[in-house]
Amino acid sequence: MKNKIEEIKQQLADIKVESKEQLEDFRLKFLSKNGSIQSLFADFKNVPKEEKPKMGQLMNILKKDAQAIFDQLKSEIKSDNSTEEKKIDLTMPVNFEKPGARHPISLVRKEIIDIFARIGFTISEGPEVEDDFHVFSALNFPPEHPARDMQDTFFIEKDPDVVLRTHTSSVQVRVMENTTPPIRTISPGRVFRNEAISARAHCIFHQVEGLYVDKNVSFADLKQTLMYFAKEMFGEETKIRLRPSYFPFTEPSAEMDVSCNICGGKGCNVCKYTGWLEILGCGMVDPNVLNQCGIDSEEYTGFAFGMGVERIAMLKYQVKDLRLFFENDLRFLDQFQGAIW
Ligand code: PHE
Repeated sequence: MKNKIEEIKQQLADIKVESKEQLEDFRLKFLSKNGSIQSLFADFKNVPKEEKPKMGQLMNILKKDAQAIFDQLKSEIKSDNSTEEKKIDLTMPVNFEKPGARHPISLVRKEIIDIFARIGFTISEGPEVEDDFHVFSALNFPPEHPARDMQDTFFIEKDPDVVLRTHTSSVQVRVMENTTPPIRTISPGRVFRNEAISARAHCIFHQVEGLYVDKNVSFADLKQTLMYFAKEMFGEETKIRLRPSYFPFTEPSAEMDVSCNICGGKGCNVCKYTGWLEILGCGMVDPNVLNQCGIDSEEYTGFAFGMGVERIAMLKYQVKDLRLFFENDLRFLDQFQGAIW
């Protein structure tokens, strides 16, 4: 009996009544002669004697509550239907539109910047339309070098020296040209590559690249810095793994994986059952690059790294299709409503 009472209570709490028809259904279901509450009273004779007073009381409360809900709904529906006849009430408060919110890419970009700012990295910015020297030549990509194909570049037909930057390493070249070490900076920004648009690639995306040049900077410093970043970004228990790789401007070069933050490294479809997710490229700045930028490579060493903001955001928010970040579909963006800094 007690369970039945609870069940009806729950039904009353969950019910939605928006029309006269639904109101009538409500009456039939709960309050009519054949309704569920009346049938409780019919069963009352089977309740053990010692429980009768308690159960009786509960049933009476239930009946009263149901009647009160019914009366309330009835008056609401009545007044709803008569709104058309009502005059406009000029004293009503204005119905404000929802406030805007940050785009998920802005949120993640800001988070990356904050993490590096906490250990003394400054922010540097540079032009999106660049020259060949800053995007390629200064970074050890000689003309005709096949490595230029790694980054399908948008060139301007009239002037092959003008390119849309394919990475923000170009900003770091500018910083090295104009600063005496120590240099500790990150360059967030938009980059462009001539790629077919798909769930995993876009011709415009965002990067944050980092550069640290000083005396005695070593690979151990790079590793420790990146480990700090990974833990701050993905959680204290995150592990990192460095795999040897190749970039013309770093030697040695590596790619960094983090342990999958979704399955905790056990293997799932996001990490393709490897337990690892690739998030960035890095390495020790090639001495040639330092020299090209006017820094004495006998005196100074440095490390650099670069990551795609969309990639990090996809992992952080478990977004499966990169195109969502560019479509500005409010159904997607609204999910980040609360996230304002
Ligand atoms: N510039 C590289 C890219 O865009 C990333 C990178 C930066 C790799 C620094 C190594 C060191 O792919």
